Amino acid sequence: METLRYVFLVFHLFGFAAILGGLFYQLRGKDPVTGGYMVTSAGVQLVTGAGLIWVRMSLDLPVIDAKMWVKLALDALVAAIALVGMRNRKAWPFYGVGTSTAAAVVVAVAWT
Ligand code: HEM
Repeated sequence: METLRYVFLVFHLFGFAAILGGLFYQLRGKDPVTGGYMVTSAGVQLVTGAGLIWVRMSLDLPVIDAKMWVKLALDALVAAIALVGMRNRKAWPFYGVGTSTAAAVVVAVAWT
């Protein structure tokens, strides 16, 4: 069970890295826009996050409900804004995805 927790956590960090990594890479280009990989990564965050909650509860480790709801909302925001950006191809959704992801990380590490 402990190994499973690490597996979920590692893939959770891969999903986070995929969003911000792609975002930083695109910053080098002229017209950064959101992409399908952001929506996919938000899905990865949802699945691995749910897995983490399940494993932590099974191991009797603490899970802060309010923190999880806030993270779920921010994750849904990432996916929704990314989809909007893929349609209108404007810059604001690109930066919106970055801001929402950064907010999710702050919540993840600072809310204890
Ligand atoms: C953009 C979306 C997300 C990002 C960037 C993100 C980021 C992170 C990071 C960096 C950690 C490691 C924090 C640490 O161990 O100190 C973490 C842990 C965790 N995340 Fe996420 N996360 C996201 C979405 C979600 C979602 C949607 C859920 C579930 C509803 C979730 C549930 C968890 C859980 C249960 C942990 C284990 C540690 C804890 O209880 O805080 N995350 N997340």
